[in-house]
Amino acid sequence: MAFDSREVRLASHVPTGLPLTSASFRLTRSPVGGPVVVRNRWMAVTAAMRTLISGSAGPMPAYQVGEVLYGPAVGEVVASSRPDLAVGDWVRHGLGWREYAAVGAWRRIEPVSSADEAMGHLGQGLTTYVGLRAAAEVRPGDTVLVTGAAGAVGSVAAPIARLLGAARVVGTSGSPGRAAHLGYDAVYDRRAVALAEVVPEGVDAVLDTVGGRRLREVVGLVRPGGRVALCGALAHQVGGEPAGVELDLMELIGRRVTLRGFTAADHPQLREEWRELGLREPYTVVDGLDGASRALVDLLAGGFVGAVIVGV
Ligand SMILES: NC(=O)c1ccc[n+]([C@@H]2O[C@H](COP(=O)([O-])OP(=O)(O)OC[C@H]3O[C@@H](n4cnc5c(N)ncnc54)[C@H](OP(=O)(O)O)[C@@H]3O)[C@@H](O)[C@H]2O)c1
Repeated sequence: MAFDSREVRLASHVPTGLPLTSASFRLTRSPVGGPVVVRNRWMAVTAAMRTLISGSAGPMPAYQVGEVLYGPAVGEVVASSRPDLAVGDWVRHGLGWREYAAVGAWRRIEPVSSADEAMGHLGQGLTTYVGLRAAAEVRPGDTVLVTGAAGAVGSVAAPIARLLGAARVVGTSGSPGRAAHLGYDAVYDRRAVALAEVVPEGVDAVLDTVGGRRLREVVGLVRPGGRVALCGALAHQVGGEPAGVELDLMELIGRRVTLRGFTAADHPQLREEWRELGLREPYTVVDGLDGASRALVDLLAGGFVGAVIVGV
């Protein structure tokens, strides 16, 4: 049985640093069938997709021109010949950007208890938790800095840092007003402010999603023995800055600063711990697959707070 499905395909690669517009995407229609088919109901659009649109592969394969995009989605099984998946089950998988997904060969299909619970599976909260807990090793009494404070990762960082014992949590954003209600003690304009002036006492731990030229300034704030979790490189991915940055190694060695890249997948044992916290992740809902590419463009321009979830 084949299902008539609308889907979003990539019209052209757009190099990092060039503006992304809806013209880079095409909404098409084709029949979908296979041993397991899911009717997607929700999908996430994320900043990481910008890199895939540029044609650069990172940890994930780049999007191909003419092909349907992919990304996190939650939906209901509508056809299955597998004993472990019944029609009516709700699952999370990686074939978003389409109404119907043939997920038979997808490497990881996770059960979701209900449609209502779907939102909790499409945010970046697990990444934030792993970053603060395992990579930045936030400790009781710490002052913590989070860059990209209003984004999907940053929007849930303040309550997590406090649960880990942080005494003070500050952030940076291109539009600090967006992060006003996310639990930060203060949020500074990443373009306008000299961090050493507004945080003269320094910080113990950093969750960095931005990288770029200003990483040197961020790292310069870290107190002796402090930890920097390298989560993302928005200044490169979205802003078009070089991916490489210059850091003063003598300074880092002298202050015993740790810089640690990570992904949530490195720490599967923290997944259950994160779920048990039951923290609500801020998110914005956008209606309709036809609005998904616009939502991604707006997300990259800083138009939303928290994760961005599209109703498919
Ligand atoms: N390591 C991992 O496992 C992992 C997992 C998930 C995500 N990530 C990475 O973490 C980063 C944040 O992801 P996210 O989903 O939370 O994204 P996001 O912050 O929700 O969305 C993108 C944000 O980029 C900011 N931005 C736009 N232009 C910028 C520029 N030139 N320089 C700096 N920021 C700019 C905008 O906020 P402003 O208002 O601040 O400009 C916008 O809100 C990304 O690099 C992503 O790839 C890593």
